[in-house]
Amino acid sequence: MIEVERIQNVDLDYLTYLLNISTHDEEIFRTADEIRRRYVGEEIHLRAIIEFSNICTQNCLYCGLRAENKDIKRYRMPLESIIERAELISELGIKTVVLQSGEDPYYTTERVTQLITEIRKFNLAITLSIGERKFEEYKIWKQAGADRYLMRHETASPELYAKLHPHDSFENRKAHLLELKRLGYETGAGCMVGLPGQTPRDLALDLAFLKELDADMIGIGPFIPNADTPLANEKGGDLQTTLKMVALARIVVPTANIPATTALGSIHPLGRQLGMKYGANVIMPNLTPNPYRPNYSLYPGKICLFEKDTACVECTKNMITGLGLKVGSGYGYRIEKVRAQ
Ligand code: 5AD
Ligand code: SF4
Ligand code: FES
Repeated sequence: MIEVERIQNVDLDYLTYLLNISTHDEEIFRTADEIRRRYVGEEIHLRAIIEFSNICTQNCLYCGLRAENKDIKRYRMPLESIIERAELISELGIKTVVLQSGEDPYYTTERVTQLITEIRKFNLAITLSIGERKFEEYKIWKQAGADRYLMRHETASPELYAKLHPHDSFENRKAHLLELKRLGYETGAGCMVGLPGQTPRDLALDLAFLKELDADMIGIGPFIPNADTPLANEKGGDLQTTLKMVALARIVVPTANIPATTALGSIHPLGRQLGMKYGANVIMPNLTPNPYRPNYSLYPGKICLFEKDTACVECTKNMITGLGLKVGSGYGYRIEKVRAQ
């Protein structure tokens, strides 16, 4: 029998042990599913994502959007197109829009504020996912009406973080996430699984960090090697370990909103369905318009690139009902109180 309390107390030795062997996987999965049901219920929330710019000043070693990659076609959506797309999302009955981009300085404090101000009129919860910005900007955008901010911590191993991120440190990333929390954002963190040199102990550190932050949202996906990056020849993350990390994250932060990520769906045709069976309660249909969509190429084999325009909405809804779960009807804020057992 697994010891749920030791998991929830983020006992690093115990988590490392569980991550090292597969003996207890089925029990971890079952426990995560029970905890998901008990704490966040049967609803799976849809978050429509608009990847509005693939231009990035950073050079994260794993990512296809890194500044030094000259082999992709870059784009920036005009503000009006982003706003128009958000309106469509609202008309489709979705209640959250995620605005994601590389770290693109074109979207200044004022331009992002304008996006928030306009998109708020459509009664959407607004999630920003635009990388590290000035603390002052986080504050201005919160006041303008942004509700949530996603910024994965990527890895909680300071050594690995430093290797993967030229000119950035885990300590700095952590400071940003703490500031977002302090400002009252629902704050999302998360990591990749199977990064080069990443050990089970490092993954245990990721879980401990998610607990320490009390992450409101937790995105976990496999690392997928991208041929246009310095990590082209590395091995990627596997399905089983990624699912185990999703399940453990659910046990460690029972009320968090946890997506079944696109990367998980990209390494296995049923990856996202399995994610929702083992703890995830969010899915993010891709609403990036064409012709831009295929150019947001973080990693190869990304799903949904050639589907018709809004097809992912129906597809994700069918996935949810097919699993016997319910499509979320509200904004899907993190629940305030733990419901009765
Ligand atoms: N494989 C998997 N995930 C990746 N990301 C970036 N590059 C890759 C890759 N090669 C993830 C990072 C980032 C998010 C937007 O995409 O975790 O935070
Ligand atoms: Fe830029 Fe984000 Fe990719 Fe890093 S992970 S290169 S910050 S888009
Ligand atoms: Fe995009 Fe299924 S979610 S096609």
